Amino acid sequence: MTDKFSKIAKRMKSNIIRELLKVTGKPGMISFGGGVPDPETFPRHEMAEISREILENEYRYTLQYASTEGDPILKEEFIALLKRENGIEGLELDNLLITVGSQSALDLVSKIFLDEDSIYFVSKPVYLGAASTFSLRSRQYVYMNLTEDGVDLDELEQSLEEIKTRGDIGKVKFIYVISNFHNPGGVTISLAKRKRLVEIAEKYDVLIVEDDPYGDLRYDGEPIDSIFKIGGKDRVLLLKTFSKILSPGLRLGVVIGNHDVIRKMVMAKQAADLCTPSLTQRLAARYLQRHDIMAQIKPTIALYKEKKDLMLAELEKNFGDMEGFHWTRPDGGLFIWFTLPEGFNTDEMLEMGKSENILFVPGIAFSLDDTCKNSMRLSFCLPPKNDIVEGVRRLKKVIMEYGKERNLL
Ligand SMILES: Cc1ncc(COP(=O)(O)O)c(C=O)c1O
Repeated sequence: MTDKFSKIAKRMKSNIIRELLKVTGKPGMISFGGGVPDPETFPRHEMAEISREILENEYRYTLQYASTEGDPILKEEFIALLKRENGIEGLELDNLLITVGSQSALDLVSKIFLDEDSIYFVSKPVYLGAASTFSLRSRQYVYMNLTEDGVDLDELEQSLEEIKTRGDIGKVKFIYVISNFHNPGGVTISLAKRKRLVEIAEKYDVLIVEDDPYGDLRYDGEPIDSIFKIGGKDRVLLLKTFSKILSPGLRLGVVIGNHDVIRKMVMAKQAADLCTPSLTQRLAARYLQRHDIMAQIKPTIALYKEKKDLMLAELEKNFGDMEGFHWTRPDGGLFIWFTLPEGFNTDEMLEMGKSENILFVPGIAFSLDDTCKNSMRLSFCLPPKNDIVEGVRRLKKVIMEYGKERNLL
């Protein structure tokens, strides 16, 4: 039967992070791999109480099909949250769509915008989940290199100009960016770059897809206006999620954008899954009504900040004086992007890591062209603090062994 698979199915590859998660549970293993939140941070007692209530009292809604657009109560609460926390005004219910996590929103974006010859822009390194759905539909991606303050916009503008000159500008569908604490890069797009990005998108009439799962997990510095707030809903499609502020198991994402785009996404979603589960939508809605979600994540922020600072300090201690080793210093989110000198291949090093009981995600997982081989993504959110210290020590052992074997050090 495998010969019957569609062209798209034949292009599908197993996700390396999902594979890694399988060995994460091995006794003694320390994982800097998956970017999953610490389960101790989920407000389980409050959620258990609301769950019982909405099952007993609101079963006509919670156990029934919901509308494809999403629970209106949740949408209202989210509009209020965006106004309160992000200063985003002027949204109506039909500017929002509730999806099964941001991942399904990314999939819907690729369904409604991408044909085989469509062109889109992504960062290098790129978020694996976005790359996997976009590239199934079109391989015509253009890279923007990641920089300390976001992405290289000179590169973006130059590429757009070249595409325009060859008469293909109509094929450019969107520019995909992660505004805060990039996955895997850890970097944040500066305010100046956000403004310039909007100007460039307006000049060439291209949509910006702003994916922002981590914006609320800020540990240092001041929040920056979202690209959506700067560019408005006709220029920017904003993707938010409950995964990192409440719980990923709820599988709730929110897409915010212009009515026409949202309406088309609703049509695509009808074909995909009819609706996002009513039960988790109402659970989140009642949670937002009763609890201050931003106050609830404060202990999480304090915990992750400590872990992040510890991992940065350990990296400094172990690699600070080694030439060619550098890493990003995120102000929030879950990830540090660690780059080794040319010649190191973190994909090859993974097996050595597994035998030393240390996991990381090889950089190649975040590229569409088998590059980023000398980098790796380190996640600091899940391991306890002792494990962060021990994990970096093991990482150093693997790096030293690999480097000496290949005369790289
Ligand atoms: C940048 C980015 N976008 C989207 C997602 C998907 O999140 P979810 O589907 O859980 O909302 C993630 C998850 O890690 C992510 O890092």
